[in-house]
Amino acid sequence: MGPRSERHARATAVAAAIDMATVGELLTSGTARLRKAGSESARLDAELLLGLAIGAERTAVLAHSEAPVGADAAAAYERAVVRREAGEPVAYIRGLKEFYGLAFGVDARALIPRPETELLVTEAEREVAWRLTSAPRPAGTPRLRVVDVGTGSGAIAIALATLLRRRRMLAEVSILALDCSADALRLARENAVGHAVADEIVFGEADLLPATEPRFDLILANLPYIPSAEIDRLPVAASFEPRLALDGGPDGLAVVRRLLGVLPAALTEDGTALLEIGFDQGPAAEVEVAALPGRWTCRIQADLSGLPRLATVERRSAQRSEAR
Ligand SMILES: C[S@@+](CC[C@H](N)C(=O)[O-])C[C@H]1O[C@@H](n2cnc3c(N)ncnc32)[C@H](O)[C@@H]1O
Repeated sequence: MGPRSERHARATAVAAAIDMATVGELLTSGTARLRKAGSESARLDAELLLGLAIGAERTAVLAHSEAPVGADAAAAYERAVVRREAGEPVAYIRGLKEFYGLAFGVDARALIPRPETELLVTEAEREVAWRLTSAPRPAGTPRLRVVDVGTGSGAIAIALATLLRRRRMLAEVSILALDCSADALRLARENAVGHAVADEIVFGEADLLPATEPRFDLILANLPYIPSAEIDRLPVAASFEPRLALDGGPDGLAVVRRLLGVLPAALTEDGTALLEIGFDQGPAAEVEVAALPGRWTCRIQADLSGLPRLATVERRSAQRSEAR
């Protein structure tokens, strides 16, 4: 028996003697329960929830299956497993979701940020960098105006701000983050404080984009785009998220269509809108854009899973041929 197996056997014996379950036992029983409850990621869920209960990273949970778990931690794990068995997303139970390498506080006030939205942030950063570096900006040039419409947890605006801060470009950009949900905005502000960009982003409650706002160089939006009739057929986890964050009306495009309608007034002449849409909504979005007054282009780009999800909308005169 090697030193590791000896340590394992000793710890398991100690746990049994004092009637405590080990990390490994709790993982096994939790995984079985969550699998039975319908989770497709039962083992991962159990690892994350046990990590939460014992206050350790998932890697530590994996490395110490023989360690005994104290009564308080075991009870906390039990409560977390019960919540997950009822379908609540792991991110809400942990109060945490990683997006663009940053930890965001999440709860029922806003949508859990999704990995596919990271493409929008990448493209927004590229767009800002291109605009700041492709032509001289003499002293006194106004800041680029960027808005995140339907900011939710603040994921897009905050991730973009942290990226631009790293590139020392933040001072040349003003970022506005809007949502019609006061609850979501409170969460977004908390996240901005957590990432030390609260002074760099102005948050505001609004229905899409108020007409009183000066035009924007860059409009970013991940608005609700799920057709109303499909919402009740989503996995149960989605029922814990605000309906306002998901419901895109009869064809899913009701809110996006309204935003497209204000683009002619809200975008600068060479401005760009980056909009996340459903994987099957590209053709419908192109039709909407073609109907806008003036001449517009709509380019649909695939996300990391190869699904066409990002619409880039701009005036035809603003379209640039070189890669940005
Ligand atoms: C799909 S969630 C996206 C949240 C966040 N941008 C993200 O990517 O994780 C859509 C957000 O749009 C907001 N929203 C829905 N309708 C809106 C409207 N008419 N005006 C402003 N915000 C709206 C919702 O409250 C929700 O926070």
